[in-house]
Amino acid sequence: MKALILVGGYGTRLRPLTLFRPKPLVEFANKPILEHQLDALVDAGVRQVVLAVSYRAEEMEQELKTYAEQKGVKLIFSHETEPLGTAGPLALARKYLEGDSEPFFVLNSDIICDFPFKDMVAFHKSHGCEGTIAVTKVEEPSKYGVVIYDDKGQIGSFMEKPQEFVSNKINAGLYILNSKVLDRIELRPTSIEKEIFPVMAASQQLYAYELKGYWMDIGQPKDFLTGMCLYLQSEGQKPDTKLKFKSGPGIVGNVLMDDTVKVGSNCRIGPNVTIGKDVIIEDGVCIKRCTVLSGSKIGSHSWLDNCIVGWNCKIGQWVRMENVTVLGEDVIVDDEVYINGGKVLPHKAISSSVSVPQIIM
Ligand code: GDD
Ligand code: MG
Repeated sequence: MKALILVGGYGTRLRPLTLFRPKPLVEFANKPILEHQLDALVDAGVRQVVLAVSYRAEEMEQELKTYAEQKGVKLIFSHETEPLGTAGPLALARKYLEGDSEPFFVLNSDIICDFPFKDMVAFHKSHGCEGTIAVTKVEEPSKYGVVIYDDKGQIGSFMEKPQEFVSNKINAGLYILNSKVLDRIELRPTSIEKEIFPVMAASQQLYAYELKGYWMDIGQPKDFLTGMCLYLQSEGQKPDTKLKFKSGPGIVGNVLMDDTVKVGSNCRIGPNVTIGKDVIIEDGVCIKRCTVLSGSKIGSHSWLDNCIVGWNCKIGQWVRMENVTVLGEDVIVDDEVYINGGKVLPHKAISSSVSVPQIIM
């Protein structure tokens, strides 16, 4: 089977991380978000993936070249000259998708779950209609596409981001579509959620596959951190997980650390922490519920809770950061500074405390 991943969009909600790096290349649990999806597709037997890109394509091509060679998967970059939304890219890539009569996968690039691709295929074949979308249950459905379906899974209606509560079952951003669906999509900016799915639902051609286990759209910092916790928890419970969880003195709960990370003495790290390549953690540091990206340094006795530290940041001594603070690339935080929910733009130096959540430019 083939797949198309929607990797366009500006990733504005994940700023400042996405200011200089496309969202799909931001590391989630020490691996680019996109590679989580590609790995799962490759495991399910997919050998050709179209990456529908609308910006920063060169960077992605460059970074994914070796990956594709290693995994034996063919990556086709389908460039949009203007953003085509979530359906237009399918029309643009039509020639790659419709070659055989097989259905193909379509994925949003910012979601994380235990990708159940093989199961989805079996379900799709069982109902014989044009499309299957994975659905999951959430507490706040208004940020998502909401679906209503019967006990066989047939979707009666699809509404993108409804203002009023209709249901808590939402579109999880993973689809299987027959090539026939391509006849419904024109080559112009089109939203699959607003213009295609509602029509398919009305003609009884769309089915819901209920996801088991966790799911998260990690396109916003708060959700990124929640997704990280859920991912680590889920992997931690698998007897055959490929992740190398860290253990030892000072390590609490699920912690992932690149082999190159250096940790000082008397630190307390975890639960729910991922630390990327070449990070240096000095003595007496406490980190919980955080992602620290590669090349950063955390000075002694600093305390980090619920933060994302971008690439190559330098955090001083006795610093305290919390409440979904996000540092862009190459940020310097001076000794003893306190940051509460700050979103700090790349290359900034922070020398005084930030006590109220805000964007620091
Ligand atoms: N190629 C391309 N071109 N990709 C795009 C474009 C574009 O113009 N616009 C958005 N995308 C990609 C994004 O990169 C992302 O992978 C996907 O399409 C969905 O866009 P988001 O901006 O993340 O949408 P959302 O999170 O608000 O809502 C979508 O995802 C929810 C689940 O996370 C919808 O599909 C909802 O129905 C769904 O519930
Ligand atoms: Mg999203």
